[in-house]
Order: sequence, then C-alpha cells, then structure tokens
Amino acid sequence: MFSQRLSRAVSHSLVRSSSRINAGSRRHASRHTKFTLNNGASIPALGFGTFQDPDHQEEAVVRALKLGFRHVDTAQIYDTELSTGNAIKKAGIPREELFLSTKLWMTSHHPDDVEPSLDASLEKLQTDYLDILMLHFPCAFARGDNVFPEDENGLMAMGDTHYLDTWLALEKVLKTGKVKAIGLSNFTKEQVQNIIDKGEVVPAIHQIELHPWLQQADFIKWHKEQGIHNTAYSPLGNSNPYYQEQVWSRPEAFSLPPPTEDPVLIEVAKKHNKSPHQVAYAWGINNGRSVLSKSVVDWQIVANLEADFELDAEDMEKIATMDKKARFNDPSPLFRFQFFEGLDGFKPRGDHEFPVSDVFGKIGKV
Ligand SMILES: NC(=O)c1ccc[n+]([C@@H]2O[C@H](COP(=O)([O-])OP(=O)(O)OC[C@H]3O[C@@H](n4cnc5c(N)ncnc54)[C@H](OP(=O)(O)O)[C@@H]3O)[C@@H](O)[C@H]2O)c1
Repeated sequence: MFSQRLSRAVSHSLVRSSSRINAGSRRHASRHTKFTLNNGASIPALGFGTFQDPDHQEEAVVRALKLGFRHVDTAQIYDTELSTGNAIKKAGIPREELFLSTKLWMTSHHPDDVEPSLDASLEKLQTDYLDILMLHFPCAFARGDNVFPEDENGLMAMGDTHYLDTWLALEKVLKTGKVKAIGLSNFTKEQVQNIIDKGEVVPAIHQIELHPWLQQADFIKWHKEQGIHNTAYSPLGNSNPYYQEQVWSRPEAFSLPPPTEDPVLIEVAKKHNKSPHQVAYAWGINNGRSVLSKSVVDWQIVANLEADFELDAEDMEKIATMDKKARFNDPSPLFRFQFFEGLDGFKPRGDHEFPVSDVFGKIGKV
C-alpha cells in the first residue's frame, strides 16, 4: 500500500524506556493552547500526525490520546484512517473532545466522487462527522480505485477536474453536517484567493509545510488577514528521513542539517530546559498556528505533548533569522503539476517527470 511504500524500511514500536521518557519530558510549564477557526470551532495547537508507519499508528494514536492529544490528522492516502478510528474507540475519548481532520485524495476530486469518498473516510474513522475535510493538493488524478493511476507512458494519469469545482462540492457536503469545516493543503496564494473569490466559504484551515528552514512569514501574515488558520506539517523540516529518500526531494534536503541541529534552536532549548524539537513545535504555536507532530516512539510522543510553552520575543527573533526558504516536500515532478508557484522555496519542476513505478513500484488497488 502507498503509505507502506512511503514508510521507512525501519519499523518502529512504542518504546517504553523510563529513562528516555524522563529525558524527553523535562517537566516545565506546558500549556494546552487552542485556536478558534473561522467557523467558531476550537482547534488544539498541538496535533498528532499519522503519515507513515501505518502498522504502528493504532497503538501510537491510542497512546497519544491517552496522554492528552486531542487533535489527530490523517488523510485518505496515508492508509491510517481505519487505525485512527480504531484507536479513538480504544482510547474511549468522547468524540466531541476531539478535533479530527482528513484529506481528500486526488482520485476523488470529481464532484460526483466527493461525498462517496467522504462517506468511506467516515466509515473507516468510525464517526458521523469530521472536524475538517481538506483538499490534499490542488491537482486531480484520473478517477478510479487506483490511487496512483498510470497513463500509457507509465506517468501519472491526470484528471480534468479543476480544484474550484471540487471546492464547490466540498461546500455542498459542508451543508450535510458530515463535515464541520472545509479547508486546503498545499495551495498557492493565488489558488486560495481564487477559492475565496469564487466560492461561498472561506477555507477554515490551510495545512502547509512550515518549519524554521521554511518560515513563509508573508504567506502566514496573509492567511491571518483572510481569517484562515494555518496548520504546520513537517514542523521538524528535513529531520524526517522520508524527505531524504524521495527522488523528487530538493538537494537542500540532503545538504542541510536538520533544523534541530542548528545552534540557535539548541541555545533556545537550553534556556527553557527543553529539546530543540520541542522548541521547533513551540515556535509554530507561538506564531499562532497548529503544529502536527508525528511519532510512533513513546518517549517522543510524551515529549512532543510537552512542546507547548511560551517563547519570549528574543527567542522568536532569533529563530526568525534561521529561515532558509528551503522547501522539502514538493512532488511536482511525480504528480505532473507545478505546486507552490510564487511561494518561498519555489523552484520550477523542470521537464523531468517520474514514472509512477520508478517511485512506488507497481501499485495495486488500495
Ligand atoms: N498535507 C500534507 O501534504 C502533509 C505532508 C506531510 C505531512 N503532513 C502531516 O504532518 C505530520 C507531520 O509531518 P512529517 O511527518 O512530514 O514531519 P515531522 O513531524 O517534521 O517529522 C517526523 C519525524 O520526526 C521524528 N520525531 C518526532 N518527534 C520527535 C522527537 N521528539 N525527537 C526526535 N525525533 C522526532 C519522527 O520520528 P519517528 O517516526 O521515529 O517517531 C519522524 O521521523 C504528518 O504525520 C501528517 O499528518 C501533511
């Protein structure tokens, strides 16, 4: 399956080492920050991501929920919706205490496919409603069961649905109550503006790549002016080995050290008796956004929940100097669509397109 192919070869299990838990959870004033979305709903600042390691996500999500995470992010393509649904049941968390998000995959962009696809997600997640359904990317693939459809040349078979038509279909499902909010991921400013101009509903969330190496300060400011909340994915930048393994990754993914090894984050971490990873998350929260931490390692899950703490103006100014406009997650050559045009870290995708099987091997139905 796709997400298994995306998973690192190394498998994880929840490691319960008391010494590591102690190292990761230096007890310091941790907060439980929440933000308010433009639909009036509340969203916890700290979210739990479920991309990768699908075989370990049920256990990880149960652990995260029992520890106190109340915001879980999944996506149809991650193959973790069912394990997330199982975990919510197992943890016994009342549904209304939880903020649950998923993302529509690009084979379901045709307006007729949106509600059936949402229904399938609801069934896997074992819930009557989502707190938000987002468009994962602004392009469409050919309709059907194969999540990576190939054309006659082995390249991605693209669909012809414009994201605006998919958005209007999302607006329709919003009226059914099956989703409390609708949002976007991986759109450009121009594309978001197009939706604001031509749709009736302003997206509640735009989930984007954000970390100290890719700060996108102007784009963030613009979202605030539009009343759109940002959720940061890959808050640890290129720390995730996934971005160093993808053929489409930018050279920076290999040449730059992880931001958590930068002296600035290390210095701020020492000052607050936290780890550089916790500072990376706290920096996002102190900038007014939600941050998705992902881990299937117990002591890291514990430590990540303690990453919501106050950074002072001096810390924030120092971290602002770290920006390298380095974007790592850009599948443009594989998805045959130019993403992120006009945004920080944008680079044209060039002519080279990757055959699907070069990247994922032959993929059957999921
Ligand atoms: N919308 C999108 O297109 C999109 C794209 C990417 C991600 N996302 C969402 O954002 C979430 C997070 O993004 P991400 O997984 O790309 O990147 P990330 O959270 O920046 O990095 C995850 C990596 O950091 C490690 N890690 C986590 N906490 C740590 C800690 N305290 N100390 C040391 N290492 C730690 C994890 O290790 P272990 O795996 O070993 O635990 C994993 O390898 C995803 O799960 C997903 O929900 C969305």
